[in-house]
Amino acid sequence: MSTTQRFDVSATFGVKAPRGLEIEGYADETHPNVPPLQPYVFRRGLNAVLAFLRDAGGDALLLTGPTGAGKTSLIRQVAARLYWPVQEVTCHGRLEFADLLGGFQLLQGETRFVHGPLALAAREGHLLVLNEIDLMDPAELAGLNDIVEGAPLAIAQNGGEVIRPHRKFRVVATGNSAGSGDHTGLYQGVLRQNLAFLDRFRVLQVGYPDPESELSLLAQQVPDLPAEIARKLVVVANEVRRLFLGEQGADGLPAETGELTVTLSTRTLVRWARLTVTFKGAPNALAYALDHALTARAAAEERTAIHRIAADVLGPLWSTHA
Ligand SMILES: Nc1ncnc2c1ncn2[C@@H]1O[C@H](COP(=O)(O)OP(=O)(O)OP(=O)(O)O)[C@@H](O)[C@H]1O
Ligand SMILES: [Mg+2]
Repeated sequence: MSTTQRFDVSATFGVKAPRGLEIEGYADETHPNVPPLQPYVFRRGLNAVLAFLRDAGGDALLLTGPTGAGKTSLIRQVAARLYWPVQEVTCHGRLEFADLLGGFQLLQGETRFVHGPLALAAREGHLLVLNEIDLMDPAELAGLNDIVEGAPLAIAQNGGEVIRPHRKFRVVATGNSAGSGDHTGLYQGVLRQNLAFLDRFRVLQVGYPDPESELSLLAQQVPDLPAEIARKLVVVANEVRRLFLGEQGADGLPAETGELTVTLSTRTLVRWARLTVTFKGAPNALAYALDHALTARAAAEERTAIHRIAADVLGPLWSTHA
């Protein structure tokens, strides 16, 4: 039996929280499935995640929102701080429910049943994190319905093994759509999900962080970048996002595509900032880094438009070295 411990929310996550507010996690910080600790700026949605971890009440949790906004890293970094082991899977169109359960493998000359991520998570009380869940075939996901609600998992292939879900077993999914398919054509391979399956999820929208949060995460992750430049990179990112998103639909995804088909996500912003530091001293370090980070994969006219925004915002910094 693995032992648990209580964590003070405010001290553990660096957020304002009522005094004495705690959350139960695990005691063994050396468990190999605890994700590595990385800096992360926690935002309001943290509460919803913690409430879910405290008591899932038969639900799963879906984190949805645009690419590179911090969905996967949110759940990983919460788990890292609570020493909560994670079984992480990246979904794709050919992933089957049976792959999550496990299968027979040849081990040292013997064929043995090896438990998959779902079976392990349910048995051991780990988080099952299903990334890009909307790329998976809905028919395969339906197999998760009962176990999410707490019903035992039966593994017929393994001699009818039955796993009763551990009280700390949780299912968390991430995806760019909220399950109703992609209306924009920007997210290739997104499938419309099954209504009965979605009905089992609490949904948390993870949008791009506000400028203040992005500034503090840049300061954490790229401390060598001067604050004045960091502030301007965040302004550029927000301007590019505004043109990308166009009008936003109810699910947080663009209802119609905006003027740009590439966006400057938080992931790309961090990359741009890092590369700017890497190339510092070179002529046009900011432009070169932006190309490397994003615009080299954009169409020529979009690249021009994004560079024009950056030039306007950064002023003289744009053409000199950072
Ligand atoms: N709140 C945050 N604090 C610190 N870093 C962040 C934060 N949000 C995003 N990041 C940075 O952005 C990167 C991308 O985040 P993440 O992989 O979680 O995005 P995602 O929403 O899962 O994207 P995708 O939909 O493409 O899978 C992280 O590796 C991290 O560097
Ligand atoms: Mg992700």
